[in-house]
Amino acid sequence: MLGPVTGDPSSPAPPLSAAADVLLRAPTAADTPVLDTFGSREVRGEHDFYDDADLADLHHGSFRAGSRVVSDATGQVLGRVTFHEVAYGPNRGSLAWRIGVTVLPEHRGRGVGARAQRLLADELFATTAAFRVEADTDVPNVAERRALAAAGFREEGVLRGARWRAGVRRDAVLFSRLRTDD
Ligand SMILES: CC(C)(COP(=O)(O)OP(=O)(O)OC[C@H]1O[C@@H](n2cnc3c(N)ncnc32)[C@H](O)[C@@H]1OP(=O)(O)O)[C@@H](O)C(=O)NCCC(=O)NCCS
Repeated sequence: MLGPVTGDPSSPAPPLSAAADVLLRAPTAADTPVLDTFGSREVRGEHDFYDDADLADLHHGSFRAGSRVVSDATGQVLGRVTFHEVAYGPNRGSLAWRIGVTVLPEHRGRGVGARAQRLLADELFATTAAFRVEADTDVPNVAERRALAAAGFREEGVLRGARWRAGVRRDAVLFSRLRTDD
């Protein structure tokens, strides 16, 4: 049974004790039942659920994409992070990574989202030549804005009308971490 969907930090699970409590790993077949819940309104929440179909082929072609399971040290699934390339020019040097995150409702509010996004950006900088890792979220998604800031991302500005959900165009706020950031 899933816990509350609000991510209300006033009733969180116990705080994480060490950085090693949040790990990223490739998904396995055993994760399928949990990962299947990540398409639901209950897990995605008001700022991340779209009532039209995902564009399954959005990241095909020459652009790379992937995901990681976010787990604790015992292997329990806490959430999922995703990444795909976005092009700011016609050349390889102008490719950046756009990342996304969903933390299961019962594990929100104890630093998992921040930790996982920091780890994913670290991994992308360590394993690819990319200079820029970015993320966007609905302007009112305070939890994700704070999680990104805690993960070392800097706020850049508002993307007007960038998201469409439930019949309404929504402004998004863009964050980035650069390879040269502190
Ligand atoms: C957004 C999300 C990933 C954040 O993950 P999380 O593990 O709960 O976040 P953290 O525990 O790292 O908290 C980050 C900060 O947000 C704050 N926060 C958490 N939930 C909050 C809420 N509902 N309202 C306001 N602030 C909140 C925390 O107190 C913390 O602030 P601090 O760094 O100042 O202490 C998670 O809530 C989620 O999966 N939401 C649904 C999916 C979603 O919206 N994904 C992003 C789509 S772009």
